[in-house]
Amino acid sequence: MRKVMEERRKSPVKKGDFMEQVIKDMGVEPLYLTEDQVIYFTAGVWVATFVTNSIILSLIFKFLSDHPSVLEELRVEHEDILKSRDGSGSNLTWDEYRSSMKLTNYVINEALRFSALFPGLLRKALSDIPVNGYTIPAGCCMLIVTPVLHMNPEIYKDPFTFNPWRWKELDALTVSKYFKPFGGGARQCPGADISRAFLAVFIHVLVTKFRWTKVKGGTLVRNPLLGFRDGVHVKIWEKPQTNKTN
Ligand code: HEM
Repeated sequence: MRKVMEERRKSPVKKGDFMEQVIKDMGVEPLYLTEDQVIYFTAGVWVATFVTNSIILSLIFKFLSDHPSVLEELRVEHEDILKSRDGSGSNLTWDEYRSSMKLTNYVINEALRFSALFPGLLRKALSDIPVNGYTIPAGCCMLIVTPVLHMNPEIYKDPFTFNPWRWKELDALTVSKYFKPFGGGARQCPGADISRAFLAVFIHVLVTKFRWTKVKGGTLVRNPLLGFRDGVHVKIWEKPQTNKTN
C-alpha cells in the first residue's frame, strides 16, 4: 500500500477515488493525517468491509448447498417477489426488501450467528464493574466473547445446526441480548444495515438468476477469524430467464 500511495502521489492522472481524496487531505493544514495512519486505516477499512461480507457470503453458499430444502424455500420467497410485480420489470425495491424477505433475513441471521467473525468485542472498564460476585477493576481491557453467546444451547437449540427457522421463535429481547454479530453500544458496527441490505440483494440475484453446485471445501476453521480451511468452491452458471423481470 505504501508503494501504491507513492505511485499515486507522483502520478498526474486523476481518478476521483478514495486514495486521491486521502492524499489531498494529507496536505491540508493543520497536518493531521500521516502516511502510516492512512495505511493502517485503509487496511482496517478493507478488513471491516470486504473480509466480513465475503466470509458471510461464503457461509451462505456453504449452508445453502448443504441444505437444499432451505434453498428451495428461499427460491420460492424470491420468485414470489418477482411474480407480485406488475410485469414492469422493475428492480428490487426497498419495500420488497423490508417486507417480503422473511426467510432471507432468517438465513442471514443464521449465517451471522455462526460467523461471529471476530473472536469478540474489545472494551475497557471505565469504572469497577461488579459481575456475579467478582469485580472487573477500572482500566482493565475486556474481551466479550460473542461466539459463546451465539452458541448458547439454552437460547439456540442444537446451536451447531444450521436452522434458519429458529429465528421465527426468538423474541426481540432475547435477540438483543444473545445476538451481537455487529457488536453493540456506541462502537456498534456502522456497516450493519448496509451489510444486511447487501447480503439480501446478493441472495435475491443469486437465487433468481443463477444456479450453482458446490464442488469442494466448506470446512470451517477459526484462526482467530472465522474462515474455511480449503475455501468453498462452487460452480455457478446463469439460469435461463423465462421473463424479463429481475
Ligand atoms: C457482515 C458484515 C459485517 C460484520 C459482521 C461486522 C462486524 C463488526 C463488529 C463485530 C464490529 C465491532 C463492534 C463493537 O466493538 O461493538 C465492527 C466494527 C466496525 N465496522 Fe463492521 N462489520 C461488517 C461490515 C462492515 C461494513 C460494510 C463496514 C463499512 C461500511 C464496517 C465498518 C466498521 C467500522 C468502521 C467499525 C469500527 C466502529 C468503531 O469502533 O467505532 N463494517 N464491525
